[in-house]
Amino acid sequence: MWSGTPLFPEAASTIAGEVDALYFFLVALTAFFTLLIAGLIVVYAIKFKRTSPDSIGARIHGGLALEIAWTVIPLLISMVIFAWGAKIFFAMSRPPDETLNIYVVGKQWMWKVQHLDGQREINELHIPVGRPVKLIMTSEDVLHDFYIPAMRVKADVIPGRYTNIWFEPTKPGTYQLYCAEYCGTQHSRMIGKIIVLEPEDFQAWLSGNAQEGSLASAGEKLFSDLACITCHRGDAGARGPVLQGLFGKTATLMSGQTVTVDEAYLRESILTPAEKVVNGFQPIMPTFQGLVSEEGLLQLIEYVKSLKALGQNEAATHTGAAAPGEAVPARSPEARN
Ligand code: CUA
Repeated sequence: MWSGTPLFPEAASTIAGEVDALYFFLVALTAFFTLLIAGLIVVYAIKFKRTSPDSIGARIHGGLALEIAWTVIPLLISMVIFAWGAKIFFAMSRPPDETLNIYVVGKQWMWKVQHLDGQREINELHIPVGRPVKLIMTSEDVLHDFYIPAMRVKADVIPGRYTNIWFEPTKPGTYQLYCAEYCGTQHSRMIGKIIVLEPEDFQAWLSGNAQEGSLASAGEKLFSDLACITCHRGDAGARGPVLQGLFGKTATLMSGQTVTVDEAYLRESILTPAEKVVNGFQPIMPTFQGLVSEEGLLQLIEYVKSLKALGQNEAATHTGAAAPGEAVPARSPEARN
């Protein structure tokens, strides 16, 4: 309803209505108390003004009811703000199970986007309408912040870490993307376009920009180029843990701690392998710091995600437009050595 209002961004995601409702509630609440207090100051200044030099006000000895009222009312109001805000915060931080996953790498001063099927974009992001999209983001250099006002989503993009945002676009169109964290000289030009397409147009865009291989198959190539395969062979006697079916599982470390195998853990294991060695293995893996780019890391991660547990041939659980895992043949035991 406010989309035509100047300075107010369009609302183009499922969460936008809820964010706006809370925002307007806060504005209305603030306006109400501002006007109330300012109005009372004026009214009382006039009503209780000094009329003669010897007029002295009556002494007030407190009022219990008044004290309770101005303690309890603000408490209730702030609890409403807290509960309402927490509800939206949780909705925004918990993506649905089935999302279209896309990787974003920020660098001074551009946004690089990688789709699971291999399509790459710079300062543009093509997505379909009516489908939850999850962006897995990291930075090559300094802090950036990925901000799409029309979707009401915004998150810091941090070097050495993966941050996620998710949203579901509700109408096709082109929306503005901003970097919202000062990141150097060209920060203000680190902008881009979010292009929301009808599902069939999105499919056409994907096939029109088809690359030779999916992200996972690029990762597979890197995996053999970097000779990861000599140790992570996929059999129990290998020098490195079996990677098949590993993603999403819990691994026990030498220290006895456990970790969930997610994007962050895989990244850490490639760059600083000695940090968290899986129980039963030696800390012999060399670091690949400086040898693999951020994009290369994402490819490797996507490759590991695509590896199904051995002897398990079900379709890839990926949620890319076409299951990228299919491009990756399951490793057969004969492939050893
Ligand atoms: Cu990137 Cu500001």
